[in-house]
Amino acid sequence: MAFEYLSQEVAQQQLRNRYRARQCVAEQSGRYVSVNEQRYLNFSSNDYLGLNHHSAIGQALLEGAQRFGTCASGSSLITGYSYAHQALENDICAWLNQPRCLLFASGFTANIAIMHALGHKTSRLYLDKLSHASMIDGAMSSDASVKRFLHNDIAQLKHLISQAQQSKPANSNELNHVIASEGVFSMDGDQAAIADLAQVAKQCHGLLYLDDAHSIGVVGEYGQGSSSLAELDVVMATFGKSLATSGAFVACSQTLAEYLINFSRHYIYSTAISPALAWATRASIKIAQTEHWRREKINELSNILASKLTDKVKLLDTTSSIHAIVIGDESTALQVAEKLRAKGIWLTAIRPPTVPKNSSRLRVTVTASHEVKDINYLANCINEVIA
Ligand SMILES: Cc1ncc(COP(=O)(O)O)c(C=O)c1O
Repeated sequence: MAFEYLSQEVAQQQLRNRYRARQCVAEQSGRYVSVNEQRYLNFSSNDYLGLNHHSAIGQALLEGAQRFGTCASGSSLITGYSYAHQALENDICAWLNQPRCLLFASGFTANIAIMHALGHKTSRLYLDKLSHASMIDGAMSSDASVKRFLHNDIAQLKHLISQAQQSKPANSNELNHVIASEGVFSMDGDQAAIADLAQVAKQCHGLLYLDDAHSIGVVGEYGQGSSSLAELDVVMATFGKSLATSGAFVACSQTLAEYLINFSRHYIYSTAISPALAWATRASIKIAQTEHWRREKINELSNILASKLTDKVKLLDTTSSIHAIVIGDESTALQVAEKLRAKGIWLTAIRPPTVPKNSSRLRVTVTASHEVKDINYLANCINEVIA
């Protein structure tokens, strides 16, 4: 039968406890999620700063829709680029101290676009092993040679760069070295060794590219993410996590921005993001910059969580909103998540291929909208089910 592989491969997923299904959410905030008429404490949200449903962002969305429309009605190079987009780009440039900024429909697309732009045939891309799927896909489909270094292993990264330099034919052009990593890693919650990566990039006259999806808003005194820790050459972040809207940005040099505008198929042949959302994102950024208490609360609650879990719970060490509790095999992780759900806690079990084999986990996200009593309850329940 034609296309038999479709049903066969889904059946395989079920057999391996890797089957994925969506849950239709009736309502959600950083603190609660309602599914099937049941309300749960939500520890799987990426609304780290608790900005979803913030009235100022909602107001800005309405104002943006009235002034600029709900839709860009065109790609950025035709008629889709409006004052709302330009103002947001300028805000981001000032926030992150970067010369230029471009907006993309999603972080996934932005990562692919950047990897293609930097992944020239004369380039060598070095990706941290735990980099996001979109960085890997973008790198692998680019013209560059790609190497992945062990997670945060600076020595191995240096070794790979020196190997590439040594194997370059004497008469060929200078290599373009691109080091790519996530700022805060999405499934482990730990940070890249950003200062070291920046130094290595400088030493080899290369570029450092960071995906700040999980750092923006959360890291840095003004929520500037990894840009608060080192000078970055190129930084990308999605608006769909701590900034509570949708779309993504790439902040970079004048030269790279001009290259993307002229050659990036992902930028050129795609409708510009909604101008109403761009306007709303300006409001989110303002709140992220000024409401320091949101970051302080994430830290305070995260420390409480770490202090309340027993030694039986394998909690990875982090300084972000993301706290990974490694369980092991898929089926046990699913059972633990199910037991927590019965206690009113929503925590999705993260399984391979999203994480390496035998490291299925609970990915707990602590947000500024949680309360101390939520964290205490979560810790007690986890201790009970992982006894
Ligand atoms: C590290 C990382 N990069 C990129 C993305 C993709 O961003 P977006 O959701 O805007 O496509 C995600 C997840 O959504 C992510 O976790």
